Amino acid sequence: MRELFFLNQYLIKYGKMMVWGIAFVLLTNVFSASVPVLVRLGLDEALKQSLWITGQGDALAVSLIYQTALAFGIGILMVAIIRGVCMYYMRQTLIVVSRKVEYDLKNRLYNKYQKLGESFYRKHMTGDLLSRMSEDVSNVRMYIGPAIMYFANMIFTFVVVIYQMLQANASLTLWVLLPLPVLSYSIYQVSRRMNLGNKLIQEQLSQITASAQETFAGIRIIKSFGMESTFSQKFQSEGEEYKSRNMRLAKINALFFPMMLLLMGLSTLIVIYLGGKEVEKGAFTPGNLAEFVIYLNMLIWPVASLGWTTALVQKAAASQKRINEFLTAEEHQEFAGKPFLLQRNIALDRLTFTYEGKTQAALKDISLTIQKGEILGVTGRTGSGKSTLVQLLAAMYYTSEDTSHILVDGVSMRDIDLQDFRRHLAYVPQDVFLFSETIKDNIAFGIETGEIQEEELQKAVKAACLEKDIPQWPEGLNTLLGERGVSLSGGQKQRVALARALVKRADFYVLDDCLSAVDAETERQIIDHLSQWLKDSTAVVVAHRIAPLRMADRIIVLEEGSISDVGTHEELLQRCEYYRNLNESQSAEFQ
Ligand SMILES: Nc1ncnc2c1ncn2[C@@H]1O[C@H](COP(=O)(O)OP(=O)(O)OP(=O)(O)O)[C@@H](O)[C@H]1O
Ligand SMILES: [Mg+2]
Repeated sequence: MRELFFLNQYLIKYGKMMVWGIAFVLLTNVFSASVPVLVRLGLDEALKQSLWITGQGDALAVSLIYQTALAFGIGILMVAIIRGVCMYYMRQTLIVVSRKVEYDLKNRLYNKYQKLGESFYRKHMTGDLLSRMSEDVSNVRMYIGPAIMYFANMIFTFVVVIYQMLQANASLTLWVLLPLPVLSYSIYQVSRRMNLGNKLIQEQLSQITASAQETFAGIRIIKSFGMESTFSQKFQSEGEEYKSRNMRLAKINALFFPMMLLLMGLSTLIVIYLGGKEVEKGAFTPGNLAEFVIYLNMLIWPVASLGWTTALVQKAAASQKRINEFLTAEEHQEFAGKPFLLQRNIALDRLTFTYEGKTQAALKDISLTIQKGEILGVTGRTGSGKSTLVQLLAAMYYTSEDTSHILVDGVSMRDIDLQDFRRHLAYVPQDVFLFSETIKDNIAFGIETGEIQEEELQKAVKAACLEKDIPQWPEGLNTLLGERGVSLSGGQKQRVALARALVKRADFYVLDDCLSAVDAETERQIIDHLSQWLKDSTAVVVAHRIAPLRMADRIIVLEEGSISDVGTHEELLQRCEYYRNLNESQSAEFQ
């Protein structure tokens, strides 16, 4: 329950509407409760008048009864209409507030997601992020809206109706109320089971969705390994499980209404039996009896809703807990601090880095200074920590501990405005990701003003050697990518990602193995362009191949997370065995 206190700020924010809403709940109840009184008065009056008929057989009396019935009928109708209007406004306020809170919460989560760091995204699957934003938020909405509304309604109905019942007949009231707690408790139990059943079904459904998604994403692999039937069987057994969970829920559902009707019927029976005796004794008029039956019916729904709302509140509390988990997750870094202005160097000072959940450090005691204007090459065996190193340089991982080991002109990364840093950074990650937009939009992605200069675009396209690919695409650079468009080859993707970085004209470039899928001839051309392009900038270039490394002023060789050597191409050829082997194997390849 404590988790839901978080929502109080929203209840306060929309306090005025909530108060109006509760006022309408009260009004609705006052009008509802006046219907039974009108029924009693009307019925008793008509009964009195009907005694005259049997006595005198008078047509005048019949028309009198008719008039009474008409007058009370119109009265009841008017009350019902006013009550309907109140109910309309009750929903217009309380349910609208819940929608507003839903909107606020979704935005809040979305904004939070933007501020969370790499390590968070490694831990949580995309599906989880989405489900907390959709399902959990909608569970919480059910608490703010329907749960609060029905709860307020229940309280007012109880106060108003029970007060009137006690006024009419105290002992009968107690008898009538007797089965109600049983009703409420059993509905609570059934709702809880229904929620649980629903949860299990949802889980199984997301399981099925996830595995279907993976199957289709990997359909080529599945077919090429001839694994279709295995996957079909797996899908079928997951479907079976889904079906059986649904059947279980259907049984519980089937129990729900008959049980409610039974308990309601029981209460009505008690009223009619005991009330009838009171009428016989003369302590009660027939009007009273009718009034009581209506009261009872008015009480049933709130009592039933008590069980239901309790289950809703429990569900919302669990969801809010999941939402709070994300809302309180540590953010990447506050966007505050000094602007990024590179004047001398970027340095790593005895940086050791271990991935969460790993025992071995991916980087060990790295000290390194990248001078302004320098191009630094990074090479080393696969898994030696190259990507980890450049990700840290590109500020992708950010625990406050690591930042103190990364310095810009001697200032710790912690004190630098991250957004400003990113504005000056152009990063090509090893695993390229392109959006399902046009190629041009993908390249212009990082341009903040939104409008890319055609000339700049062409230059970047040329530098990344994309020009010769353009005729292949039906609409040139305006061709859509992704599911609704064309797919690019691995090398094309890499070059689009490179153009996207280059067009930024950044101060600091980080290129992680961005030419690995490009043929040697194109690679050579790109490197020629790159060395021009990077002339006035600082850059870190990761590569397994010698060609891109040659454009670097200095090259570091990583081995199991440590720097095993630093030097120019010539120096490393002299003294670094790994580098010499790399060079030899590759020159052999080209001869
Ligand atoms: N997100 C991660 N979580 C845990 N461990 C990781 C993660 N990413 C990389 N590692 C581990 O850290 C080590 C260094 O990986 P890294 O990706 O930096 O290597 P690399 O030098 O870039 O390799 P490659 O040449 O294959 O790209 C490896 O042992 C790898 O298994
Ligand atoms: Mg890598």
